[in-house]
Amino acid sequence: MESNKVAVIGAGLMGNGIAQACASAGYDVVNIDTFESAIEKSKAAVEKLFSRKVAKGSMTEEKKAEVLGRLTYSSKFEDVKGAFLVVEAVPEKIEIKKDTFKKVDELADAETVIVSNTSGLSISEIASVTNRPDKVMGAHFFYPAPVMKLLELVRGLVTSDETYETVKGFAEKIGKTTVDAPEFPGFMVNRILVPMQNEAAFMVMEGSKPEDVDNAMKLGCNHPMGPIELTDFVGIDTMLATMTGLYNGFHDSKYRPCPLLETMVKSGMLGKKSGLGFYKYDEKGNKIGSNF
Ligand code: CAA
Repeated sequence: MESNKVAVIGAGLMGNGIAQACASAGYDVVNIDTFESAIEKSKAAVEKLFSRKVAKGSMTEEKKAEVLGRLTYSSKFEDVKGAFLVVEAVPEKIEIKKDTFKKVDELADAETVIVSNTSGLSISEIASVTNRPDKVMGAHFFYPAPVMKLLELVRGLVTSDETYETVKGFAEKIGKTTVDAPEFPGFMVNRILVPMQNEAAFMVMEGSKPEDVDNAMKLGCNHPMGPIELTDFVGIDTMLATMTGLYNGFHDSKYRPCPLLETMVKSGMLGKKSGLGFYKYDEKGNKIGSNF
């Protein structure tokens, strides 16, 4: 399909970053979210990030204006029209994903490819609610999406070669390196990474200090962030949803989610985005101390 337009559904942490990455690479992007408040928050976050880059000298004012000029927002699903690619980045709940795919399938052009940024749900199951399962696949970004180099490509049972090539071409244009990940819970990275974060949460539950667990992995293994810090960074709810997906998907007790994570999510401690997680954060998102 001849088009330079990408539609990103969802203006949360991931959708916002994916939209930025696409606009920075030269695509015309519409970031769609039915919640006006999410759109406003997303716009403000991009503006703030780009202004920081300009102040730091890693982005020019011209580049900032150019990229922001290619990035539009909408609260209407109808605006997927004309996009050669739709990237879904809504919350990690199968019913929300399926509902979104049904709507997009009805409104997008017949040739449009639709990818899910799911971090581990079944692509074939999501594709099954559309009339174009061959044009559906997984494209899993990592947080922060504009920075992280990897894109996991996940084919569903009936994803066509043409769809795969379209998404691979898109990945190259936005500067990502791809890996072919299996369509099993957690795909490739999260199946390794998230159980490590879960184990780290168990250690905090047993009495270890978050700083000690983080320093152990930063200084002992050269990880850029410790597993506890990373859990706060991506969102405790997101991490717990992925862990629960592994547990339910493999039916294996080795993936049992740490109860502390469940209690934290139930009490609204979601990590950096809510101001409180394993650590405490000020209103600017700076870490100001430990919560355990
Ligand atoms: N959005 C966009 N850009 C961001 C950003 C964000 N949220 N956070 C940082 N950046 C950019 C900065 O603007 C900066 O860009 P410039 O160099 O152009 O100015 C660059 O990233 C470096 O930022 P900083 O200098 O502020 O910080 P840093 O050097 O410490 O790097 C980091 C920050 C890239 C996040 C680094 O700490 C890191 O790599 N952390 C590990 C991240 C990780 O493991 N991600 C995977 C999470 S798991 C996942 O995503 C799976 C899932 O399914 C949820």
